[in-house]
Amino acid sequence: MPDQTAGQSTGTPTNEQAASRRAARLTINGADYAVDVETRATLLDTLRDDLGLTGAKLGCDMGQCGACTVLVDGAPMYSCLLLAIEQQGRAITTIEGLAASGELDPIQRAMIEHDALQCGFCTPGQALAMKALFDREPHPSDEEIDRALAGNLCRCGAYVKLRAAARSLAGR
Ligand code: FES
Ligand code: FES
Repeated sequence: MPDQTAGQSTGTPTNEQAASRRAARLTINGADYAVDVETRATLLDTLRDDLGLTGAKLGCDMGQCGACTVLVDGAPMYSCLLLAIEQQGRAITTIEGLAASGELDPIQRAMIEHDALQCGFCTPGQALAMKALFDREPHPSDEEIDRALAGNLCRCGAYVKLRAAARSLAGR
């Protein structure tokens, strides 16, 4: 899905809004997107509203829940706290990128096998936090697992099963 253009379908902007819009190029899940963004737009809003990548969820919108987690250059980040315009030149991975080939990532399979979700709202963020962990440490300790997932809240309380999924990936 290379070189797509988006972000121009949100109605007629006021003069003030038009003045604060900029053309940006974002690299998301290995594809380049040309998108016209407001300079104050968050990466989360740009992903969801301009690019139709709705896997990252809007929870608290203030950096406290982790529902909006994406990977930026391999590190888990709250996309509600990032300006889209500042992410140019960085490799962004959303949950849509994990199964881009049509096959679920081992992390997604482990989460399903261990029933590590209920409503699923936090699940994309949890999966990406886990992906960042296992990409840098294939055999994390329980403490490392807990630390890696500490920034992602689950209102359904699936923590025990999330940990079980992570432990299985670690070979335990
Ligand atoms: S929506 Fe970003 S941390 Fe809650
Ligand atoms: S599965 Fe519902 S919030 Fe985590």
